[in-house]
Amino acid sequence: MTDKIAKLTLPNGDVIELPMQSPTLGNDVIEISSLVKNGLFTYDPGFMSTAACESKITYIDGGKGILLYRGYPIDQLADECDFMEVCYLLLNGELPNTEEKEKFVKRINNHTMVNEQLTYFFRGFRRDAHPMALMVGVVGALSAFYHDSLDINNVEHREKSAFRLLAKVPTIAAMCYRYSIGKPFVYPRNDLSYAENFLNQMFSMPSHDEKPNPIFVKAMDKIFTLHADHEQNCSTSTVRLAGSSGANPFACISSGIASLWGPAHGGANEACLRMLHEIGDVSRIPEFIARAKDKSDPFRLMGFGHRVYKNFDPRAKVMRESAHEVLAAAGKTDDPILQVAMELERIALEDPYFVEKKLYPNVDFYSGIILSAIGIPMNMFTVIFALARTVGWVSQWTEMIVEPTQKIGRPRQLYTGEKNRDVQPIDKR
Ligand code: SDX
Repeated sequence: MTDKIAKLTLPNGDVIELPMQSPTLGNDVIEISSLVKNGLFTYDPGFMSTAACESKITYIDGGKGILLYRGYPIDQLADECDFMEVCYLLLNGELPNTEEKEKFVKRINNHTMVNEQLTYFFRGFRRDAHPMALMVGVVGALSAFYHDSLDINNVEHREKSAFRLLAKVPTIAAMCYRYSIGKPFVYPRNDLSYAENFLNQMFSMPSHDEKPNPIFVKAMDKIFTLHADHEQNCSTSTVRLAGSSGANPFACISSGIASLWGPAHGGANEACLRMLHEIGDVSRIPEFIARAKDKSDPFRLMGFGHRVYKNFDPRAKVMRESAHEVLAAAGKTDDPILQVAMELERIALEDPYFVEKKLYPNVDFYSGIILSAIGIPMNMFTVIFALARTVGWVSQWTEMIVEPTQKIGRPRQLYTGEKNRDVQPIDKR
């Protein structure tokens, strides 16, 4: 808290005093909830200047390109921890010791299988449906199975739902892929790590036992960590708003998956690789840079720009290093798409338009190149993002639920429609 006061002087000379709060990191905030008593709303489409909640989970310094999970820098976590340690950190606020980690992983492993009935849902979908459509449906349908963990006011229920979601989303994600290619579902295995288990469920075949490439496993685990949480982004805000009504956690996470699907958000990784393929050759880069700058053209450079980062997205830096490792392991160091990506990044970072608007590569710029080299199809990229972000959504949802001042989210509006008028009979309209 702080004793700072902001004073708002209205056109009629009235002065409204608004209390302020100072964070541990970042911008001071002005508490405006009392404005409605003065017959006023604030107006902030897209929430450019609005802090919708208080949180202790993740912090971004967009100007410096810093991302902290519970105070730890993302590059240190990506290099020195695995995704299970990061999940424990986001959910509990501290990194686990060896015993805590073993207990956590064991509890996750107890929930990796899904009810066998769930497999029948898939048969109702077209094989060529986008896997994100299946994810929205099947994850939302988990609430039709787990009636014993839906009471959001019961801490045991909340924890059990959290573990069920963390453990089952990779299983469901792999099922979405296997269904789309007409291959049998692969059961999870508790002798494999989280990332290894996921890749095994994606690619193993009953006909021969082939363990996932350890370099791909390491890259997958790192991608999960880099995508785990990111303050109050669009999909996290969706999960918080859905949860504020008391909706069950499975329905809330399904709403987050739906929101993440958009190409301006989590859908950008798939859109970025499609764009790199459309560019195809470094000689065509100037044409696309020109289109990105043309206000009459809706084309945006996918994987570039960010609402908060006005510097390099620190996740993109880690991702770029990982891309070289994975492509080398996949024998694709001369991949023309990587060449296009590297040259596009170089040109864009020198172009005055991008420099002035502080548009840098974001987390989605390199992730598609890595996922593609691992053998994951483009339509599964956002599914991977949703898989990784589930721990962030669950952590933020839990923080919202236990917040003592929590109330249903219900924004107001600037109404510019018709004034009150009477209905005329149809023969007089
Ligand atoms: C994610 O919020 C999060 O944290 C999201 C995320 C997470 O982890 O949850 O980080 C994940 O969603 C990353 C972003 C992925 N999306 C893309 O890569 C799609 C391409 N990027 C743009 O759509 C855009 O940059 C956004 C949506 C990411 C950010 O949009 P903003 O903050 O609303 O910025 P803006 O649209 O107001 O752009 C500011 C200016 C505009 O020009 P002017 O109107 O000022 O003249 O920059 C231009 C924009 O036209 N601009 C771009 C551009 N991004 C912004 N111009 C060309 N190409 C781009 N990519």
